[in-house]
Amino acid sequence: MAAFDTVIRHGTIATASDTYKADVGIKHGRVVAIGEALTDADETVDASGLLVLPGGIDSHVHISQPSGPGIVMADDFASATRAAAFGGNTFVMPYCLQAKGQPLREALKEYHALAEQNCHIDHSFHLIIADPTEAVLGQELPALIADGYTSLKIFMTYADLALSDYQILDVLSVARETGALVQIHAENYDAIRFLADRLERAGKTGPYYHAVSRPIAVEREATHRAISLSELIDVPIVVVHVSNREAMEEIRRAQQRGLKIVGETCPQYLVLTAEDLKDLGMEGAKYVCSPPPRDLASQQACWEGLQQGVFTLFSSDHCPFRYDDVEGKQPPNARTSFRWIPNGIPGIETRLPILFSEGVSKGRITLNQFVALTSTNHAKTYGLAGKGSIAVGYDADIALWDPRRTARIAQSDLHHGADYTPYEGIEITGWPVATMLRGNFVMRDGELVGNKGAGRYVSRGPTTSMQSTTG
Ligand code: URP
Ligand code: ZN
Ligand code: ZN
Repeated sequence: MAAFDTVIRHGTIATASDTYKADVGIKHGRVVAIGEALTDADETVDASGLLVLPGGIDSHVHISQPSGPGIVMADDFASATRAAAFGGNTFVMPYCLQAKGQPLREALKEYHALAEQNCHIDHSFHLIIADPTEAVLGQELPALIADGYTSLKIFMTYADLALSDYQILDVLSVARETGALVQIHAENYDAIRFLADRLERAGKTGPYYHAVSRPIAVEREATHRAISLSELIDVPIVVVHVSNREAMEEIRRAQQRGLKIVGETCPQYLVLTAEDLKDLGMEGAKYVCSPPPRDLASQQACWEGLQQGVFTLFSSDHCPFRYDDVEGKQPPNARTSFRWIPNGIPGIETRLPILFSEGVSKGRITLNQFVALTSTNHAKTYGLAGKGSIAVGYDADIALWDPRRTARIAQSDLHHGADYTPYEGIEITGWPVATMLRGNFVMRDGELVGNKGAGRYVSRGPTTSMQSTTG
């Protein structure tokens, strides 16, 4: 019997800390050796000229999530995880949305049924807490956290999801008691409602006014409040999808004060602006997401956040809707107001190429920062053991990258279920050419070679990237 099932030879390995030339030996889905001139393998993969990186972990994606009456997300678990694999990912963390009044276990049962046998890569779930009743807070949540659902998301905006400050404090208290990590969507719901009502009354109803109704101040205020609430309870939080300098500086200040605040940003805040929403017709709907893309100065602030470690997570916030579809971006009432355009844009396949090209290829971040921001930090933040690095004993979740390959992002080349990409036409240098899940190729040379159903559900532990501020 060969010593290895597979050996990856002649590649350049990069982890969150090191870059070096070595071979990788894989057995039974795990990395079992890293060394020089590894041989005696059933299969030898020549990675000359390629980077050998840990597979991307996208800890913020929405898949098959109910999004309002008559609206259907463009991706199911098969298409989303297929697209993710083509984009160099081996793990996704979608959300399990609790409907009002619904027991969490029932919601989870539905999501597991949708995901089972359909995923090309591994996955686990964050819980969205829409209804923090006594039963949810006192029994359901602690039991589920003990079962490995160790992270949750709560919202300060959206009609069906926004929690009051009191409810947020309740959820944070449970997190402190159980060791769970809470993500917060920080935008001020009442301020947005007020501004949206006024815009509508003034006849300003096109897609662009979505951005006007959610100015930086509503995000900055909510970010400050979220941080203050977490400080009151003395529990870490993740502020997700941060879009601008003012919110970023709130997080930086909190971190400098020793608070355990994790910051996340996304591709839309690096390469899109609110100008993209400007269109006399409905084209701007393609870019409607919350928080909205801002301006060039905000893009620069998000780069600084990534470079200086204020943001440790770079996720896609993949939330796909078809553009040319009444069940997607253009329901019948979307023309009457931006209010009715589903929020969210696709990006699961383009997250890594965009950061690699704009970040590593253009010299804004190092290759090791890229690995940390797209894989390692996600595993540590969300308690995912044995993933997020290339190391002996870790799962052989690996992406092979051609750092010189150039491409232009085009919808016709992507594998998601949406009928457009907001990143159409962006020039990319550096592209994943193969993705391997636990030692088996999922995508190789631009072809899907893995089986739907190869991806497994993975239960998680507590975060390992930080502890409670005062214990
Ligand atoms: O517009 C967005 N980001 N939609 C997805 C839902 C969320 O808030 O993350
Ligand atoms: Zn959100
Ligand atoms: Zn999201």
